[in-house]
Amino acid sequence: MLWELPLMPQQASTIAHKVDALYLFLWGMTAFFTLLIFALILVFAVKYKRGKVADRSNPPDTDHKLEAVWIVVPLAISLVIFGWATAIFFEQVRPPADAVEYFATGKQWMWKFQSPEGKREVNELHVPKGRNIKVTATSEDVLHDLFFPAFRTKADVLPGRYTNVWFNATKAGTYHIFCAEYCGMQHSLMIGKVIVMEPQDYERWLTTASSGTAGQTAAAGDETPAQAGERLFTQHGCQTCHQGSSGALGPALAGVSGAEVELQNGEKVKADDDYLRESILNSSAKIVKGYQAVMPNFKGQISEEDVMSLIAYIKAQK
Ligand code: CUA
Repeated sequence: MLWELPLMPQQASTIAHKVDALYLFLWGMTAFFTLLIFALILVFAVKYKRGKVADRSNPPDTDHKLEAVWIVVPLAISLVIFGWATAIFFEQVRPPADAVEYFATGKQWMWKFQSPEGKREVNELHVPKGRNIKVTATSEDVLHDLFFPAFRTKADVLPGRYTNVWFNATKAGTYHIFCAEYCGMQHSLMIGKVIVMEPQDYERWLTTASSGTAGQTAAAGDETPAQAGERLFTQHGCQTCHQGSSGALGPALAGVSGAEVELQNGEKVKADDDYLRESILNSSAKIVKGYQAVMPNFKGQISEEDVMSLIAYIKAQK
């Protein structure tokens, strides 16, 4: 098969064969019409060769049937491609509700990952087979792009925003991770490996592998993102204002994630990850109704990973 040639990356996710089927269809269509056109050029070149007897009168002629064919056929093909690609696109960009969340931070020129169990890795990502996995990503500097060729999925990774990719790996093995957006001199070296493990091997790896790859602070240890968030929350004194009692300087945070928040100006916004991130780093951007802009901005004070941990902690408070 085509994808068994080394030209194509392995198919190692639930969506990979769907993407490839569409790709093969596009490829087949293109090849078919290219060959058809070249064949017809050849046929007519021979038929109307100079000196050959042929009808060359070429009278003006209207053929509605022929016109209908060249309108309807390309339209039908385009609509098939549109419908098919849209279905795959929606599946590719919408993580299932039960997906477990991993974090990724891109920086020139490496990928940092953290599992929901708190395991931190650099340029390597271990995941269990057969589980829906969502990787929420942001960048510490410039635009990157997190690309898992074997899973047929990727997403731009932007400073100041969260994007995500999701996949369900179907085959244990080691596959490429690439940065798929030119991000500076060593863009081509911004590569990594995703290691898909059988669930029991993954559990074993979690408990045995030494943590703190590539110089993580000792304090970070093996805390889960939510635990790290709780530590940071106390460390930065957040509970002073966000203790959740009436008359507190800041709004209570339990259950805020995903909820609708009414702002001072009457506007209503959804408290998604981007909202929480903005409220931590640039707190005066959106003031919750009934509160004052008294919270300090944490922009430049805490790393993207810490922001992710704080958000994980806020999310964990139902
Ligand atoms: Cu990061 Cu290219």
